[in-house]
Formats: sequence, C-alpha cells, structure tokens
Amino acid sequence: MSNLPIKAVIPAAGLGTRFLPATKAMPKEMLPVVDKPAIQYVVEEAVKAGIDDVLVIIGRRKNSISDHFDSVPELEAQLELKGDATKLAQVMAPSELADIHFVRQGDPKGLGHAVLRAKSHVGDHSFAVMLGDDLIDAKEDLLSRMIDQHTKRGASVVALMEVPPEHIHLYGVAQIEPTDEDDVVRITGMVEKPSREEAPSNLAVIGRYVLSPDIFPILEHTAPGKGGEIQLTDALEEQARGEGGVYGVVFRGRRFDTGAKLDYIEAIVQLACEREDLGPELRAWLKDFAKTL
Ligand code: UTP
Repeated sequence: MSNLPIKAVIPAAGLGTRFLPATKAMPKEMLPVVDKPAIQYVVEEAVKAGIDDVLVIIGRRKNSISDHFDSVPELEAQLELKGDATKLAQVMAPSELADIHFVRQGDPKGLGHAVLRAKSHVGDHSFAVMLGDDLIDAKEDLLSRMIDQHTKRGASVVALMEVPPEHIHLYGVAQIEPTDEDDVVRITGMVEKPSREEAPSNLAVIGRYVLSPDIFPILEHTAPGKGGEIQLTDALEEQARGEGGVYGVVFRGRRFDTGAKLDYIEAIVQLACEREDLGPELRAWLKDFAKTL
C-alpha cells in the first residue's frame, strides 16, 4: 500500500433536505458562498494540500457540478473579445484547478455508500474524503496535518472539533484516548448522532478524513445504521477496533457547514467582510444595520 500521492473524494450526492427549497433542483454544494460555489473552496483546499486528482460523487440533478468544472469556450471567447482578463481568469479557474472526475451514486444510501463508489478510482491507495458543504478556513492547514498523521501512524485519520452539548446530536461523536501529541487522539469508538446523554465526548467528526483503503471491504459489509443509511461512522468504528486503529486530529480553527442555513449565512458575511473588494462597504453597512437590531 502506498500512501502518496493521494486522491481526494468529494461526496456530493446527498439530498440536502436541510436547505430546501433551494436544494430541490440544485445541489447544496453549488450554493454560492459570496461568488464561488461551496464545492470550489473544497477543491481549492485539496489542491493547497498537494492533491491534484479529485473524484466527485454526484447524484441526480448534479450536472451543474460537472458543468462548473468544465470549460465554457463561448463564454471564454466573449470575455477575451471584451478584454476582460479578470472575469476570464475567474471563469477558467475551476477547470484548471485539478484533474476532476465524476461518478454517480444512484440512490443516496448514505455517506458510507457514497465513499464506496470511489473504490475503483482510488484502488489500493489511501485517499482523502472531503465533504463538499463543509468549508475550512483557507488559512488553515488541517488536511496537510491529517495527511502527515496518516503517513506517520499508517492508519485512517478523521478531523474532530469540539461542539457544544446542544449540537452534539447532529454529528458522529468520538470516544478517545490521548496520544503523545497535543491535538492528536486515538479513537476507541464512535457513535453516529448520539443524544447528549449517549455522547462519549464533545469531539465531533467534521467533514475531512484521510482513509486507508482497507475501509472499502468494511464498507462493503456495513449494514444500514442511523436513519437507514450506510454510515461512514459505522465503518470507521469497526476500523478503530481493528489492528491499525483510527486517529483524530483536533481542529480548533474556523469551519462552516454550508449545508445548514444559519452557518451558510455566517460564512457569506464573514468571508465577504474579509474581501478587499466587498469588505469595507459591507462592514460599514453591517455596523449601521446592527444598530437597528
Ligand atoms: P449530509 O447528511 O450532510 O447530507 O451528508 P444530506 O443528506 O444531503 O443533507 P441533509 O441532512 O438532508 O440536509 C454529508 C455529505 O455526504 C454526502 C452529502 O452530499 C454531504 O456532502 N452524501 C450523503 C452523499 O454523497 N450521498 C449520500 O447518500 C448521503
């Protein structure tokens, strides 16, 4: 088994029910965050970590995702004719980011089932799973830290984040023991969407994973779990009990779940405030607006 170079897998075939009606005909991964679809930030994060091969798992009504990463010769020709170099660069950027592939999931039977669809593309290599609606601050190096830990420990690595008790039921939650490194833990168990009382810790799994290929045979026999879906958490639980174990990197930076309405709005406001072209005016307006609240 060779670890590097690794490929990224972005599951984007979910139904996005938390964001209806916007996601009725449009995947939540294509919702714009300021002026780029959420999934483009995720591909950029993969590229920044040194990954140049990305597989997107798409479902029905997901053609807009493949269109976004394709070139559009007529639009490019128009912008070139107008001499609009900035817009031309923006239009061309997604198709030049990485080598992007697509595979269909068919029925959205769960995240574990979506990841299993990557098996023939990934083969017998380690790979990163990056949820297409989970945005990690571009200033962070979470994925690189996870790849380093994976290489060092020869085991699957998940990203963990402390969440308040009232939100714990929304996540897969880890039971952990410390290691010799700060912010790196060994995972001894995992529970998908537990109640506050059942939660083994306050550390929730967020949408970044670096997995060993031996997750595939486990996923092949993983039965539907919580919500009747084939859960990646259940397969990781089994892997954690096996020989190599599973490790967690604790992330303390900024992250947005753009599949949830409130997080999505916060992401847009914060990221737009930091932009040179939009920030000054938006911040001034926000200050005035806040006074009216
Ligand atoms: P979520 O549970 O956040 O996605 O899955 P969902 O089911 O689309 O969302 P809600 O809860 O109904 O609003 C986590 C990730 O896994 C993908 C989703 O697209 C999302 O990125 N996923 C989920 C799949 O690709 N296939 C599935 O069968 C389920």
